Amino acid sequence: MTESLLLKPAAPAQLPTGARRFTGRTALLARLCALDGGEVAMLTGPAGIGKTSLAVHWARRAAGEFPDGQLFVNLRGFDHVAQPVEPADALRSFLAALGVPARRIPAGLDERAALYRTEMADRRAVVVLDNATVATQVRPLLPAARNCVTVVTSRNQLTGLIVREAARPIPVPPLTIAEAAQFLGGYRPVIEQCGGLPLALSLVAARTGEPEPPGRGGDPHAGARGVFAWTHRALTPPAAGIFRLLGRHPAHDLTATTVAGLAGLTVGQAAVILAELARAGLLIEFVPGRYLCHDLLHTYAAELAARYH
Ligand SMILES: Nc1ncnc2c1ncn2[C@@H]1O[C@H](COP(=O)(O)OP(=O)(O)OP(=O)(O)O)[C@@H](O)[C@H]1O
Ligand SMILES: [Mg+2]
Repeated sequence: MTESLLLKPAAPAQLPTGARRFTGRTALLARLCALDGGEVAMLTGPAGIGKTSLAVHWARRAAGEFPDGQLFVNLRGFDHVAQPVEPADALRSFLAALGVPARRIPAGLDERAALYRTEMADRRAVVVLDNATVATQVRPLLPAARNCVTVVTSRNQLTGLIVREAARPIPVPPLTIAEAAQFLGGYRPVIEQCGGLPLALSLVAARTGEPEPPGRGGDPHAGARGVFAWTHRALTPPAAGIFRLLGRHPAHDLTATTVAGLAGLTVGQAAVILAELARAGLLIEFVPGRYLCHDLLHTYAAELAARYH
């Protein structure tokens, strides 16, 4: 083995943990598997429909085909508290993950993007650009390498990427009734109420064997809110209090230490509450010890916080 190979840093493995019991999506997974090197796929659909879960599940499954790295960034395009991530900042963290020392990372966006493309040119890597708002946010992050596949997720259709980069649009629909039934381990009346929204179904799945939430048939969003309320009511009082408190704070990258600081708890108490909220499906532990609250649930927590004070 040559010295340069010995010195090569480990390939970045930035993919977060996937959905706990990923279900269905066979045709969409097949479309992602069929992507050729150099291609860009764009998963679109409304909040909570399952775009990130699909991108992450596929990329984790396909990781063996991308031995030179799996890059992931949450561009936070739809966060109602934090600002969207600047492409220059996303590039800095990608370059660092690719082993470029901080002093070699250029200051300008164009120079960073050029160095990134150079670093990616001979790699077989997958890049997941989650929660993009506009094409200009995404473009500098495209590796433009013949052996790299990129998956972008967005609530918006990024037409510019379809036109200029020939990105393949893949709309993500609600889960079918059969998929939802598979997810919940059998058909249940609540499936209609959730309107195929995996986010709502995952809260129901977290409480198997308990009475169903009161129906609110018809409107899937009203139905999903009924499920959110049902889950909130079943929390222990301290966990419910922390959930509402989180409604007033950024919802990504929560740790026991930050929550302890916000709530005046010990780190141990905060860790127990975070674990309860994750078990209920209200938080996702995207890497061990680090949590995020899905946007729709965070909005709901903010509404509760306003109502309780
Ligand atoms: N196919 C699936 N099987 C099981 N659970 C799923 C599936 N898809 C999504 N989920 C669950 O639903 C939740 C919401 O999905 P996800 O975060 O992927 O939505 P999204 O479309 O990325 O939403 P947003 O636009 O707000 O980012 C996930 O946390 C996950 O628990
Ligand atoms: Mg998402």
